[in-house]
Amino acid sequence: MIRQIDNAFILETDNTAYVFTVIDIGYLEHLYYGRKIRLEDSKTIEALIEKHEFVPGNNNVYNEENSSFTLNDIRLEFSANGKSDNREPFIEVVHADGSRTSDFVFESAKIVNGKIPLSTLPSSYDKGGECSALIITLADRQYDLAVELSYYVFEKCDVITRSAKLINRGKDSARILRFMSMQIDTDRKDMIFTTFNGAWIREMGRVDHELKRGRIVNDSCVGASSSTANPFVMFSEKSTSENSGRAYGFNLIYSGNHTEIAEVSEFGKLRFLSGINPKGFEFCLEPGSEFEAPEAVFTFSDEGFNGMSYNMHRFVSDHILRGEWANMERPVLLNSWEAAYFDITEFKLLRMARKAKSVGIELLVMDDGWFGKRNDDRSSLGDWYPNKRKLPGGVKGLSKKIHDLGIGFGIWVEPEMISEDSDLYRAHPDWAMKVPEKPHSPGRNQMILDLANPEVCTYLVNTLTDLFEIGNIDYVKWDMNRTMSDVYAPSLAPSRQGEAAHRYIMGLYGILDKLTKKFPDILFEGCASGGNRSDLGMLCYFSQMWGSDDTDASERVAIQTGYSYGYPLRTVGAHVSSVPNHQTLRVTPLETRFDVAAFGALGYECNLCDLDTGTLEAIREQISLYKKWRSVFQMGRFYRGENIYDGNTASFNAVSADRSRGVALYYRKLSVPNDQSGTIKMHGLEKDALYRFYNRPFKLDVRMFGDLINMIAPVHVKNGSAVHDLVSKFVKLDGEQEDYTVYGDVLSEAGVHLLPAFSSTGFNSRTRVFPDFSSRLYFAEKK
Ligand code: DGJ
Repeated sequence: MIRQIDNAFILETDNTAYVFTVIDIGYLEHLYYGRKIRLEDSKTIEALIEKHEFVPGNNNVYNEENSSFTLNDIRLEFSANGKSDNREPFIEVVHADGSRTSDFVFESAKIVNGKIPLSTLPSSYDKGGECSALIITLADRQYDLAVELSYYVFEKCDVITRSAKLINRGKDSARILRFMSMQIDTDRKDMIFTTFNGAWIREMGRVDHELKRGRIVNDSCVGASSSTANPFVMFSEKSTSENSGRAYGFNLIYSGNHTEIAEVSEFGKLRFLSGINPKGFEFCLEPGSEFEAPEAVFTFSDEGFNGMSYNMHRFVSDHILRGEWANMERPVLLNSWEAAYFDITEFKLLRMARKAKSVGIELLVMDDGWFGKRNDDRSSLGDWYPNKRKLPGGVKGLSKKIHDLGIGFGIWVEPEMISEDSDLYRAHPDWAMKVPEKPHSPGRNQMILDLANPEVCTYLVNTLTDLFEIGNIDYVKWDMNRTMSDVYAPSLAPSRQGEAAHRYIMGLYGILDKLTKKFPDILFEGCASGGNRSDLGMLCYFSQMWGSDDTDASERVAIQTGYSYGYPLRTVGAHVSSVPNHQTLRVTPLETRFDVAAFGALGYECNLCDLDTGTLEAIREQISLYKKWRSVFQMGRFYRGENIYDGNTASFNAVSADRSRGVALYYRKLSVPNDQSGTIKMHGLEKDALYRFYNRPFKLDVRMFGDLINMIAPVHVKNGSAVHDLVSKFVKLDGEQEDYTVYGDVLSEAGVHLLPAFSSTGFNSRTRVFPDFSSRLYFAEKK
C-alpha cells in the first residue's frame, strides 16, 4: 500500500515501511526503512524528520533562503552533483554549458496500480493486483532535465523496487556520466555491509565489511555482473544471525558493469548507492530522449538473514522468473563437459545418453565442441553448424536419437562470441568488439561480438532460431566465456564509445527477449565461465544459471551458501562430477557430491560409461530419491543453519509449502578426532506437529577403513589390493540409521542429537562414519 500524508510518502508491505518526505527546498528526505511502524498524520511523521538550525563550518548552505542546513547532512532519496552534497551522487551530468552541477527538485507525484515495465531493460512484473506504484517527477531548476523515480511496492514478499528515468526536455544534449538506480541514506550507525566476492571457480564468497568512515565499493567493470562482485549485497546489525535480527538485502536487475557503494559521511550518515558503474560509462542524451537506469530491488526482515533471503526468493520466483519454467521442477540432466570436454561424437553421446536413461536422468546436454571445427578453444565460435565428422546426422539426427531413448536433448552455445579463426569472422571482421587498428587483449582465444550493432543481433536471433528449431531443442546452456577489454563497438561513433558496454547489454537483452518468447518450452540455463553473470537481469530470461565451473562438493557448499542469500537455489545448476575433482583434485564421497548438488538444480557431469555397476546403482538410487523429494528441494522454503563461513560444518534445509515435509543437509568439511557429537536442526516445520525424522538406509564400503579391515578379517588383507577390492564387493557394512519421532519445535529449537561420529576407538552400526567432506541428508515427514 502507498499512502501520501501531506508531503510524506509511506510505502508499506505486509511487514515493512519505507518513508520519505518532500522538504521545503523540494528535495526528498529519506525518513525511515524497516519494520512497519504506525504513522497516521503529519504530527506522527514529524518525529522522523531531521531538525537543523545551523550549518557546520566548512559546509555550504543550499541557498540563502534556506540557510539552516546543508545538503551534505541530509538523508536524501536522490542526490545530484554540485550543490554541496559532497557524498557520492546518484546523478552526474555534463550540461551543454559545460557545468556538472544539477539541482533536481520535486515537481509532481502520482500513485498508480500495477507494474510498469522498463522499455530498454528487463524488469520485474506482477500478475495483477500484487503491486502498487509511486511515481515522483523531479525537475532540474537550471536545466531542462527531469527525473522520474518509480517506486513499486510488492506487499506480499516485503520487497520494494525502484527505477529511475532521465528525460531531456530541452534543446541541448546532455552527457550522462552517472545515473544510478538506488539511493538510500540513513543515520543508522555500525551497520555491516556484506558483499559476495570471488573469482572463477570461487564465486560468491561472503565478505562482511564493518562500516566506520569512508567508502566501500563493490563493483564490476568487465562487461558482466562478474564473479568478482555479485550485485546482491546486504546490510545488517552486528548481532544479526541467520534467524534473528535486522537484515536488508539489495540487488539490481542488470547484467553489465555495476557498482554498489556504501559510504559513511563526515556526519556518520550511511549512504548506499547502486546502479550502472560510472567507470568507463558516458551516455549522450539527445533532446527529447530518455535514459532508463536498471531496476533496483530491496527488502528488509527482522527475522535475520533467513527472513531476508525468503523475501528475495519469493520475489525472484514470482516477479523475476517468467515463462513456463519459472516455477516448474527442473529435470535431472547429464552434461557432457567434464565427461568428455571437446572430444564428443554422436557415438559417445549416445552411449552416455543410454546410461543416463538407465539411471533415471531426464535430459542429455551436449556441451562445447559440436560445431565448426571446434576441437579446442581456439576456433569456430560463430560457426553454429554441426561438425559432420563428430555428428554425421547433424544436430537434428542426434536429437532424434536421444529423444527416441525417451529423454530430452539440450545444447551448448556461446553466441555472443566470435573466434578469429571462424567463417563468421572471415565474413564480418567488423562485427567483433575491437579498437580499430590497435592490438586486442586476448581472452580464451576469442572476441566479443558487437551487440550494440542491431545487424549482429538480428543475425544471432535468426541463426539460433534455425538451430533450436532444427535440433528440436529442450534445453539451452547459454555460455559467455570472456570478460570485456579494449571496449569498443565498431557500430558506434567515436563520441559514443562510453555507451558501448551498456548498449551491448541492451542488445543482449533484446536477443534473449526474442528467443525466449519464440521458444517458451526451452529451459534456458545461463552460464558465464560458471558464475560470471549470475544476476537478476539474466534470470528475467533464463530460469537457472550455472553457478560455478567448480563442481567440487566441498567448494560448492560455500558457493551455494553464498548464492542462497539472494537467489533461490533451484536457479543454481549443481552437478555431481567425478573424483578426483577436475578443479581441485579433491576426493569427496559420492554421497556428499549428491547431497550438496540436490539443493540446486541437480545434474551429473561425468562419464557414466566409465563407472562401475555399484556406482551406477548408487546414482540410480540418488536420482530416484531426488525425484520423490524434488518438489521440496527445488520449490520448498530454504533455510541456512550452521554456516560454512563460520567453521567446519554447514547445514541447510528446505521445507514444503504445506510444511508436511522437510529435508536437511548436514556437512562437515574436516573430520575432528575424538569429537563424537553432532546436532542437526530443521527450521520451518509446524511447531506442534509430529514428524518422523530419519536418514535413508545405506551401506559403507569396507575400503573406507583402509587396513583397519585387518582388525576383523580372518586373513590378512593388504590395503588397496585386488583382494581388498574383491572383499568390498561382497562385504558391505550397515551405515548408521537414525529414526526419531519429533515435534517441529524440537527440530527447530533443540535439534536432533545424532549418533556418535567414528572416533577411532570402535565401530558398529550405530556409529556415524564421518571422514573428511562427509555429509548426510535427513528427512522429516509429518505423521
Ligand atoms: C565454460 C562453462 O562454464 C563450462 O561448463 C563449459 O560449458 C565450458 N565453458 C565450455 O567451453
